[in-house]
Amino acid sequence: MSAARGIDPRDFAPRLVAWQRKHGRHDLPWQRSRDPYRVWVSEIMLQQTRVDTVLRYYEPFLRRFPDVHTLAAAELDEVLAQWSGLGYYRRARNLHACAKQVCERHGGEFPRNREGLEALAGIGRSTAAAIAAFCFGKREAILDANVQRVLARAFALPRPRDAATLRTMWNLAESLLPESGLDAYTQGLMDLGATLCRPTQPDCLLCPFAADCPRHLDAPPAAPSPDPAKSARRTLHWVLLWARSEQADGARVWLQRRDAQGIWPGLWCLPGHDDEQQAIHHARQLGEVLEQRHRDPLRHVLTHMDLLLHPLEIRLRAHAIIADSDSAGRWFSLQQALALGLPAPVRRLLAADEAG
Ligand code: ADE
Repeated sequence: MSAARGIDPRDFAPRLVAWQRKHGRHDLPWQRSRDPYRVWVSEIMLQQTRVDTVLRYYEPFLRRFPDVHTLAAAELDEVLAQWSGLGYYRRARNLHACAKQVCERHGGEFPRNREGLEALAGIGRSTAAAIAAFCFGKREAILDANVQRVLARAFALPRPRDAATLRTMWNLAESLLPESGLDAYTQGLMDLGATLCRPTQPDCLLCPFAADCPRHLDAPPAAPSPDPAKSARRTLHWVLLWARSEQADGARVWLQRRDAQGIWPGLWCLPGHDDEQQAIHHARQLGEVLEQRHRDPLRHVLTHMDLLLHPLEIRLRAHAIIADSDSAGRWFSLQQALALGLPAPVRRLLAADEAG
């Protein structure tokens, strides 16, 4: 006897567009522009990073690299330095590579369709679709992780786990596209996923689809809190060797460039060691150890684990202060160090030292 339930796919776009116009976000800095360069930078920053974090980095990045030519001509290190703190540094490397491709292959103009955009470094189908829709008015569907969650809930579908279920969801996403109001529709999907249809504790009361969203209607009572033993995250401990050497013209700090793979790829970092013995052994190779001091540990949250960093400050008389660009490590003045691409906790440590 129950009435047919679920959202009518034909109603989905008009309701979302009406909601976005009234309740969505309208004054994010990248919404003021249809310039593909500015939109592209925002979309890359917004992958895996929350809007409030991106807001702190977006304008300074554009001031430093106001157009695609400036970005393409910059050193990768400068780009990483400007990105420092945003995390997921592969995005910054791809951003730089993509800027070069746009200049070299397309004379500095971004391609105007999804296929052309998708052929560039670091631009996947959903990001390409967002740029094509926002900047060039193309009728393209987005399907990032937030949108997958929204559609899975609204249409009672499983979250895509393999190519076939992903394909089904792309087909659905395409079938829902409205004939007009594409900007508001695309932005509405992003806004709904980020502000109401959150991964946990969605705000269904304010949602325009609550009355017939299967997920809302079938939601089980609040789940018990997860078993802490099962959800325990891995914590990786690193002793951070903070080797410093006083020179006549100021202090130097020893930094090493991290591998292109793994945690903080390509960033300059205090060397991380598994234990104190190794860190001290390393310090002895750099000079004569004069003094050592433990600093308070710092916790740094990564996607899959926590890093617990134990800074070990070692003052030493350096064997030699050479700027050897072939080696993975170098001595830097504090000022030079702070201009590099550093992981956020290392930057905080060094910056506090400069301030103190
Ligand atoms: N997430 C991804 N792209 C976005 C955008 N353009 N505005 C807000 N959040 C987003």
